[in-house]
This record gives sequence, structure tokens and C-alpha cells, in this order.
Amino acid sequence: DFQYPHTFVLLGASGDLAKKKIYPTIWFLYRDNLLPEKTRFVGYARTKQTIQEVRQKSEKYMKVRPGEEEKFEQFWALNDYHAGSYDKRIDYELLNQLITKYEKGPVANRIFYLAVPPTVFSDVTVNIRNACTSIKGYTRVIIEKPFGRDDVSSNKLSQHLAGLFKEEQIYRIDHYLGKEMVQNLLTLRFANSIFDPSWNRENIASVLISFKEPFGTEGRGGYFDDFGIIRDVMQNHLLQILSLVAMEKPVSLNPNDIRDEKVKVLRHIRPIRKEDILTGQYIGNPEGKGDETLGYLDDPTVPKGSVTPTYALAALWINNSRWQGVPFILRCGKALNERKAEVRVQYKDVPGDIFDGHAKRNELVLRVQPGEAVYVKLMSKTPGMNFDLVETELDLTYSLRYREASVPDAYERLILDVFMGSQMHFVRNDELTEAWRIFTPILKELEDNKVKPLPYVYGSRGPQEADGKLKGYDFKYSGSYKWIKPTP
Ligand code: BG6
Repeated sequence: DFQYPHTFVLLGASGDLAKKKIYPTIWFLYRDNLLPEKTRFVGYARTKQTIQEVRQKSEKYMKVRPGEEEKFEQFWALNDYHAGSYDKRIDYELLNQLITKYEKGPVANRIFYLAVPPTVFSDVTVNIRNACTSIKGYTRVIIEKPFGRDDVSSNKLSQHLAGLFKEEQIYRIDHYLGKEMVQNLLTLRFANSIFDPSWNRENIASVLISFKEPFGTEGRGGYFDDFGIIRDVMQNHLLQILSLVAMEKPVSLNPNDIRDEKVKVLRHIRPIRKEDILTGQYIGNPEGKGDETLGYLDDPTVPKGSVTPTYALAALWINNSRWQGVPFILRCGKALNERKAEVRVQYKDVPGDIFDGHAKRNELVLRVQPGEAVYVKLMSKTPGMNFDLVETELDLTYSLRYREASVPDAYERLILDVFMGSQMHFVRNDELTEAWRIFTPILKELEDNKVKPLPYVYGSRGPQEADGKLKGYDFKYSGSYKWIKPTP
């Protein structure tokens, strides 16, 4: 298919996501010659502007390196911008004409990226379907969260989409599925015999999946307040990781085989109970500097007295024979002490201890970011005459082991997948249904009762109560070990 004309249409081309993420991404793909040769790009939005203006707004995010100037010009020469409303069919017919102009030959494919607010989502999809569907090739649509805000609204959206497109045409992005380490989960688990036999409740005490960010909502509070950290990160990014950690081995690497297993393990999870969740909201740090002094409620775009959580810790229980009784702890928060996303599989204490309690638990850690790494924390004898134990690790740090390799950005990988027609790293409709089934009741409970989140200071590790909660879930933190990123 790669020899035929392709058109990549970016709807919402004047917005933030477009300029910061999508334009740079398609430029990187173009720069690295990864796209079909005859690909053109069309931006569409309500704002009346020229393609030069679009270019100016996104230019500082494009990271053009010396020597790439000519290629960069070529890229923009393949770009068009078309202003139109989101709700009038006539405007989409004009867009269709513009696309058609370049579609010479027997086959032509179209990809629509919807970087538009949820309020116009329904109009946009209907109009694409009615006025812009390719008549001699595929039509694929890429959509991003929010996919509704609870089970009912998400279901409504799904039905709306299902009335317009086949599931094979719909690419629901969860950009965590485009991250190197998240993609590596499948390989680590199923291409090694060492982990598989111990990947169960007999050997594993708990699994902790965390996401930490060192900054607050930074003016995005208006959007954020409607959703909160549970919808923003936990219900999608962290739950996706959970399903890859916990699922059974798929029949094959076929995308639907993988997604079948992900759905299956999610179906074994009960909706989250009240006693299994703790929420927090950050307050300013009077001793900090700049933004650190501002709490979530100080953001002028956040409604006064909002009880929206910016931190959450929840335990999920998988009711199957592999995992019964093993807590999967999801933890995420903004305005914390560091930027980090990782999966931490903690093994049980060694039975029949002969080391006077000095042996600490093994952990398999997948560091998603920053600095991709896989390491196994284990006990070893102190080198030398001494017979004491020492906590150490088997370490696969990517930057050291794969010096030449460059890890592509998640969006780059995922958008290329859409051109290739691979849905492996995209969220299927039934996965989404399960995700909302698990999260809707607790979200309602928190919201209906206006449950006040626990305060935590900007730049801290989160609410202090979270540590006690972790302990209760058989996650042992000794504090005696810290993985130090090895220096080359
Ligand atoms: C987004 C959330 O989905 O993921 C943001 O809406 C969050 O709130 C972001 O900051 C984190 O992505 P990354 O790739 O920087 O870890």
C-alpha cells in the first residue's frame, strides 16, 4: 500500500495538541523517511489562518537540526491548511475536494487524526464519515481520550462510532502503549523461561505500577478539574500496563489475540471498593519557588473548593487462579517529588529463612521513564571475606546496553502503526468498556459524596497516609536500597 497516495488530515490543527505533539510527530516520521512516499498533510480547524501561521506556531517544537533545513521545507511544501466549521457538511465537502486533488491513481488512503475537543467530536466524526470517506482506499480515524467520563457516556460514544466506522478503522490512542518499556512487557514475559514459572500468587506478593510527575496542572486546571487524575492517568495508562503485566499468554502476536487476553484479565477485576482507594490534592509549598508555592486550588482555572484528586492510590484485585489475593496497586500523582513511571513486581519473602531476616525481597522493576531500564533487585554475598548479605541488582539500563539505539517517541510509533494498519498497541472497544466498569462506581462514590482528597505538599512524595496503605497491601519498602542509574 505504501506506493499509493496517503493523506493525513489533522483536525484541530490550530490547537495545543496539534502544535506541540502532532505536527512535530509527523515531521519526525517524514524526516526519517518512514512514511509512504506520496503522503500529504492537511490541517483543518475553525481558525482562519495560513499554513505559514500554522508552521510558525509549531516551529519551536519541531527540533529541526542543522542540515535538515531543506527537508523541513519539503515537509511544509506537502502541507495544506483548510479552515472550516466542525458542524457543517459543506465545509467537509470542500475539505474532501482538497484531499481528492492529490489522489491520483487507483488507490488512495486517508487517515484522520482528531485533535478536537469532546464537545465537537460527534459532529466531526459524522461529517468525516459522510463527506470525507475515501472511495478508493482505507479511511482510518485516530482518537484520543477522553472517551467519555463514565460507563454510560463512554458507551454512548462507542455506539456513535460503531454506527459510523468499523472497529478496524478506529485507532484509540493510549500513548503509554507506544512506550518502549510497555511494549517490552510482552517480550520479557513470554520470550523468557525465567519469569513465567514465578509469575503468580505463589511467588509474587504485590505489583506496584506508578506514575509520578513533578509539576502541577499549570493552567490546564480547567480541563483537568472535570476529569481528575483517576480518569487522566489511572483508568487508562496504568490500567493498560496492568493488563499487560497480568494477562495470560495470547494465542499469538496477532493484535486481536493480544487484546482478547487483555480484556479477559480485566473481566476478572471487580470494581474498585471504597476501602481500596486513597486520593490526594496538592497544596502549595510556602518554602518552594515559583509554581511550587501554588496549590491546585490556587490555579485560577480551577473552581473554588474543588475536590478533584490530583493524586490517587488504588488496589485492584484479579479474581483468577493466577492472581487471587495479589494486590495490583496503581499509584499516580501530579506535583510530586520526581518524574517517574515504573512497574515494580515484588516477590514474597524467602520461606525458611536462614539469614536472620536480612534477606530483602526480590523485585523486578521496569522503568518506563525516564531512562528506560529493566532491573532485578536481589540479594548477594558481600564480595570478599565477609559473609554478609548485600542488596544489589542485575541491571539492563538501555542507555548503557544499547548505546546506539534511539528510542522513538510514543506518538511517532503509534502514528506509524496507523499507516501500517496495526492495531496491536491501540485500545479496543471492549477494553474500554471493562475499564469503565472497574472505575465508574468508585468515581461516582467519590463525586457524589464530595470526598475530600488528602492534602500533600507540592514536591513531596504524596499524602503521608499512602505509605501506610501500601504496607497494608503487602508491599514492603525498606528504604535500605536505592537503584542508582549507572554512569557510563
Ligand atoms: C496524559 C495526561 O495522558 O499523559 C497528562 O493527560 C500527563 O496529564 C501525560 O501529563 C503524561 O505523559 P508522559 O508521556 O509525559 O508520561
